[in-house]
Amino acid sequence: MRTELSMKPTGWFQVGWSGDVPSGGVVPLRYFGEDLVAFRALDGTLHILDAYCQHLGANLARGGCVVDGGIQCPFHGWVWNGQGRNVHIPYQDRTNTARRIRAWHTVERNESIYLWHDADGGEPAWEVPDALTSFGEHVAACTFDPAYPQGRGHFTDLHVHPQVVAENAVDPHHFRFVHRTPDSPVVLEETVDDSTWTARVGFGRRWADGVARPDTMNTLVILWSGIGVSFNAEHTRDGVRVVSICTTPVDDERTEIFATYWIDRGETDVNSGDYERRLAEAQAALPDDINIWHHQKYLEPPGLATSEAAGFRKLRRWAGRFYPASQAS
Ligand code: FES
Ligand SMILES: [Fe+2]
Repeated sequence: MRTELSMKPTGWFQVGWSGDVPSGGVVPLRYFGEDLVAFRALDGTLHILDAYCQHLGANLARGGCVVDGGIQCPFHGWVWNGQGRNVHIPYQDRTNTARRIRAWHTVERNESIYLWHDADGGEPAWEVPDALTSFGEHVAACTFDPAYPQGRGHFTDLHVHPQVVAENAVDPHHFRFVHRTPDSPVVLEETVDDSTWTARVGFGRRWADGVARPDTMNTLVILWSGIGVSFNAEHTRDGVRVVSICTTPVDDERTEIFATYWIDRGETDVNSGDYERRLAEAQAALPDDINIWHHQKYLEPPGLATSEAAGFRKLRRWAGRFYPASQAS
């Protein structure tokens, strides 16, 4: 996608799954134009630092290893802790207190690793929601097997801006064409605050009158936490599934999408073919969206139909708050 939207939005962004970084593991990452190193300390805590050692600039993710107290550089053995402070120099008693490696705020939740990005250097302003308890009783009461490792999708080298994915929340009419549903869903409810956008939509005749009743059958709840992290909870005759779709900038041109799928166990268990069928069904939709988004051009203003104009305008105004003040136009 060609877009003038900043690729340095503020918020939580997924950079992997917890299972990707075992205890003592070191993984190179590249997001927001920065080379990073993720490592899991011996006490189990995950840390993400800028990749470059502040001694002579070796990349800690390329040969560094986890030791007591932090990550040891492969070049001269200096050790840096999870806060990016030098805690050991093998050939000198004193550590280097003048240099520090940037440490990123991270959180592990939903089997996922999230990183807080803020081009203006701010602290995390909200929390990442819990995917399985944020949608009310009809989801919270279900039993879900872990999504990792089979319930994952990782799409790389994309030209898909996070905001375009967020605009899904106000775009009921793409369902008929991209996902081949018989009709467009109806938006039943919408709640919006500083960091969160929630919409509940209903599919089929049951919801054709657009009246929001407590019933959840044939509904989809969409929850955006900033523009980087989203969850969909869908309730159909087949059961309940929760899908997380997270878009993360790699640099000013490219992004990645992380998708995580939780299928409720219902009557069946993870070893029955039913689970695999339902997982495959859940995974089928997103590549069709990505095929559109990857080639789309962002238009501002867009040429909207009357019934959709207010929703898109409201969404774009809301999204505007996540762009850095330093890049405000
Ligand atoms: S470059 Fe890292 S210890 Fe020398
Ligand atoms: Fe879609």
